[in-house]
Amino acid sequence: MFAKRTNWNLTPNRLSEALAAHRAAGKPLLDLTVSNPTESGFEYDGVAILDALRNPAALSYEPNPKGLESARRAVAGYYADRKEEVSAEDIFLTTSTSEAYSYIFRTLCDPGDELLIPSPSYPLFDFLADIQDVSLVRYPLLYDHGWQIDFHALEQAITSRTRGVIVVNPNNPTGHFAKRAEIAKLNFICSARGIAIIADEVFLDFVLEGERPASFAANRGAPTFTLSGLSKICGLPQMKAAWLIASGPREWKREALARLEVIADTYLSVNAQVQLAMPKFLEVRHAFQEQVIDRVRRNLAELDRQLAANKAVSRLNVEGGWCAVLRVPATGSDEDLAIDLLTTQGVSAHPGHFYEFSAEGFLIVSLITSVGVFAEGMTRLLTAF
Ligand SMILES: Cc1ncc(COP(=O)(O)O)c(C=O)c1O
Repeated sequence: MFAKRTNWNLTPNRLSEALAAHRAAGKPLLDLTVSNPTESGFEYDGVAILDALRNPAALSYEPNPKGLESARRAVAGYYADRKEEVSAEDIFLTTSTSEAYSYIFRTLCDPGDELLIPSPSYPLFDFLADIQDVSLVRYPLLYDHGWQIDFHALEQAITSRTRGVIVVNPNNPTGHFAKRAEIAKLNFICSARGIAIIADEVFLDFVLEGERPASFAANRGAPTFTLSGLSKICGLPQMKAAWLIASGPREWKREALARLEVIADTYLSVNAQVQLAMPKFLEVRHAFQEQVIDRVRRNLAELDRQLAANKAVSRLNVEGGWCAVLRVPATGSDEDLAIDLLTTQGVSAHPGHFYEFSAEGFLIVSLITSVGVFAEGMTRLLTAF
C-alpha cells in the first residue's frame, strides 16, 4: 500500500548497529562525527536570542509567500556585508535548506528528471531526491593539488533530462570552495544547455585560507538558485530558518520567482516569531562564527601535529567548512575500519562511503569537536595505523 519512492532499506547498517551497541553498553565514546553546533560547547548570546523571539508583532498573521520583508531584508543585508548585491524580492524563506531544495526540485523537475550532484558530498541528497521523484547523477570531484570539479565528466553526465547541477560551496566534507574560473565554466555549460545551477552555501562563511570566496547569490551568468540558512551560519539549526535566492537571466528569473511563489504560498511554512527574530539572529552570527573558526583551526593544528609523527595517515587540504578528510591505508573497507576503531579504540569517525567517496581509504572527522575530545580521539585513532 505504500509508494515505491518510500521503499527505502531502513535496516541499520553495521556501523550504526555497532554504535548503538557501544552506547547501550555505556562504554566511553570519543565522537569525532559531531555536527550539532548547539551541543558542541560554543557560547551563544542566549539572552539576545530568546529576547528576539518575544516580539509582539508575532501576534498578528501577515501571510507572505516569500516570507516577511523585514527578514528578507536582513538576509539581503547578510549578502551586502559580503559585497554581493541581492534584492529582498528574489529571496524566499524556508524552514531549512532541505525544504528549499524541495521547492527548487519541484520547480525544475518532472518525475524522473535528473540533477547532477558532486561526489563525494553530503549524504542527504539521496533522500531529498527520492522524495521529489528526481534522479541523481553523480559528477566526480578530483583531488589533484586540491579539490577540483571534473568538468569533462560533468559534461558527459548531462542528458536531455538534466535540469540542474548542484554545487556545494564549500563542499561537505571536502571543504573546498568553487573558484572563480569554475563558476565561469559552470555558467558557460549551464546557460548553453538551459539548465540551472543550484548552489548550497550553508558553510560559506567558514573560510580557513585564501581570499573571501565568491557566492553564487548574485550570479547572473546562468539560471541560479542559491541556498543557505541559519543552521550553520548562526549555529541555530533548531530555529528552522533558511532561504533560497533566484538569480540569472531576467526573463528566467521572473518566471522562476512566479512559479516558486505558488509553491511557497501553498505551504507558508516559516513561523512568525522566527522570521521576526532573523535580523537579530543574523546580527549575532559573528560571535558564533569566530568561535567555530578558532576551534577548527586549533583542531587542524593538533591534527597536523599528530600526523607529523605518523607515516601511514595524512590529511587532504581543507579550505573551509567543519570537516577534515583523512587518507588512511586502504587495506579493507572503510566501514570495517570505522567499526574496528569504535570497538577497539572507542572512537567514532565517518567512513568515506558515507559521503560517497569512490574509493576506500578515507575517514572523515569533525573539526568542531571540542579540542580535548579531538586530541584524544585522534591519538587513539592513529594508534590503529
Ligand atoms: C551541505 C549541507 N547543506 C545543508 C545542510 C542542512 O541544512 P538545514 O539544516 O538548513 O537543512 C547540511 C547539514 O549538515 C549540509 O551539510
